[in-house]
Amino acid sequence: MDKIKLRSFYYFSVLVLLHVVHAAAFNITSIPFSKGFSPLFGDANIIPSGDDQSVQLQLNQYTGSGFKSSDLFGHGLYSAKIKLPSDYTAGIVIAFYTTNGDLFPKSHDELDFEFLGNVRGKPWRCQTNMYGNGSTSRGREERYYLWFDPSQDFHRYSILWTTKNIIFYVDDVPIREIVRNDAMGADFPSKPMSLYATIWDASDWATSGGKYRANYKYAPFVAEFTDLVLHGCATALLQEAVTADCTNTDYKQPEGADFANMTPKQKVAMRRFREKYIYYSYCYDTIRYPVPPPECVVDPVEKRLFKGTGRLKFDERHHHRRFKIRGQVMGVRKHENQEDVR
Ligand SMILES: *[C@@H]1O[C@H](CO)[C@@H](O)[C@H](O)[C@H]1NC(C)=O
Ligand SMILES: *[C@@H]1O[C@H](CO)[C@@H](O)[C@H](O)[C@H]1NC(C)=O
Repeated sequence: MDKIKLRSFYYFSVLVLLHVVHAAAFNITSIPFSKGFSPLFGDANIIPSGDDQSVQLQLNQYTGSGFKSSDLFGHGLYSAKIKLPSDYTAGIVIAFYTTNGDLFPKSHDELDFEFLGNVRGKPWRCQTNMYGNGSTSRGREERYYLWFDPSQDFHRYSILWTTKNIIFYVDDVPIREIVRNDAMGADFPSKPMSLYATIWDASDWATSGGKYRANYKYAPFVAEFTDLVLHGCATALLQEAVTADCTNTDYKQPEGADFANMTPKQKVAMRRFREKYIYYSYCYDTIRYPVPPPECVVDPVEKRLFKGTGRLKFDERHHHRRFKIRGQVMGVRKHENQEDVR
């Protein structure tokens, strides 16, 4: 395919996807940075905007940086629009996640978006994960490509956590849903968490299992966050479980909200996203989990995409894997990142 055709193919794919998934954007209010968040580390590399609606996290040769919400929250929607660093970003990880690991080091809960950098011209990859009550020996990673270049524009990334389910959203597209069931026990997060965002050097594993390391010739690496959302009930410290009642009368439990209940259209969008962009799922990794963990819903179409390792069958899908990033036409990608599932 020549460049023009490739480009049309890419935009056509995007249009098809957007057409299917279009839904009203979440009606949620964002919070000014200094009102909701505090520095976590690398304070000199945390740069709020003048209007306090946005913040940059930078990584240079001395340190990365990070912030966290000043409060802990119960069930809710945690969200930000994020623009990732562009150009050469191998070895770099940007994480956007909820956790209570500082309060419960042995029994923490966590819900993650992680973005893994890449060499120039190769795309960012996105990972989601969940831990409950210190289930660190049972990682639940999924990895995806995105249908856009996340370093070119802001896109919204959201983590919904209710008593019944967890949904990871990219813009309006639900990319993953975990439906709670009794067999999961305490592996489903149950204690209040704070929202975190960090940028750091993960050269040892992030890109091709450590083959491509961070290169500080391209520093500082800048991730931008805006329209931060903490749509949950702030709770007292050190609670063992989220209580159903919330004394903040402005706050509604998320179960009834539009973003907690997928419409049939959104379910279709999620399925289409997954068929096209997922490249690793623990649910199909029979080497790691001979019996899939209890929340796994084995989808016959998804299952066909993977061999027993949970990783994509290369030859079945390489024809989907061509698109244009920043003026550069990419060739067929090898799944160079097979080793880097933690
Ligand atoms: C969004 O929410 C606000 C406050 O809850 C409400 O007043 C407003 O009508 C909502 N807007 C839409 C478009 O639903
Ligand atoms: C969570 O983990 C702690 C410490 O490992 C354990 O004592 C507790 O029983 C667990 N909670 C549940 C609900 O399983």
